[in-house]
Amino acid sequence: MASNFARRLEGKVAVITGAASGIGEAAARLFSEHGAKVVIADIQDELAQKVCKDSDQTSTTCVHCDITKEEDLENAVNTAVDKYGKLDIMYNNAGIVGIIKSNILDDEKSEFEKVTSISLVGTFLGIKQAARVMIPRRQGSIIVTGSVSSSIGGACSHAYTSSKHGVLGLTRNAAGDLGRYGIRVNCVSPYAVRTQMAFDSLKKMGKEGWDVYSTLNGATLAPKDVAETAVFLASDESKCFSGQNFIIDGGFTIENSGFSLFK
Ligand SMILES: NC(=O)c1ccc[n+]([C@@H]2O[C@H](COP(=O)([O-])OP(=O)(O)OC[C@H]3O[C@@H](n4cnc5c(N)ncnc54)[C@H](O)[C@@H]3O)[C@@H](O)[C@H]2O)c1
Repeated sequence: MASNFARRLEGKVAVITGAASGIGEAAARLFSEHGAKVVIADIQDELAQKVCKDSDQTSTTCVHCDITKEEDLENAVNTAVDKYGKLDIMYNNAGIVGIIKSNILDDEKSEFEKVTSISLVGTFLGIKQAARVMIPRRQGSIIVTGSVSSSIGGACSHAYTSSKHGVLGLTRNAAGDLGRYGIRVNCVSPYAVRTQMAFDSLKKMGKEGWDVYSTLNGATLAPKDVAETAVFLASDESKCFSGQNFIIDGGFTIENSGFSLFK
């Protein structure tokens, strides 16, 4: 439990999508510890309920929310407002990797559309629904989960890379649009984080050695490391940051993997 001094989100209200597991779950738990009221918005109802039960019952609520459906996001945002009186923080975190093929000729259009409709279009809908209630209050912090695939190619599938480049573009555009209302929009972009999603996709790619994803002597990312960055962006400590991409990658993207001088 964070000490009173460290309760950096006291009095704030957040919606977090994809909060039933992985990065979103870590964020829901940490936001709650920091004094925020949290709406956990996910399609996995049982897991979401478990996160709610483990947290302070008065500070968390679960809603079934498929981010491809605008009405579900509208309902998640309305739940925050109805139950807790407002929305300060919208953390658009839900996303999927999808099937990873190394050859574009094997990629199916339907799979590309599935990944982009969740990771990119769902993020757009989340930002839009948050803006609807934040604009009248002229404040808010919107956070988007990107990836190292928001700024480099070759780390994941075409669909995932396109989606994550897209959410970074959307972050910048929304920051420009919503800044006039005092609403900040930032992107958090991790490399491989120890979640089920990452384990499953790295296994399928035959790349299970985590140390290849860091230049920091093998340091690897846990969901809580990403959640800590989100707490900063959700808090007033980051009041002058908007439109930025916070890459949490242990230096992975500053080094060209084809350049072996330092290996
Ligand atoms: N794990 C990594 O290595 C890594 C790296 C960079 C970025 N990311 C991104 O982090 C985010 C979270 O991923 P994670 O690793 O925690 O994976 P995860 O699978 O543990 O969590 C994703 C959550 O999103 C939910 N979700 C999926 N589709 C949804 C939908 N349509 N509507 C609502 N919720 C939905 C899932 O039920 C799940 O709870 C994703 O956007 C992912 O792209 C992950």
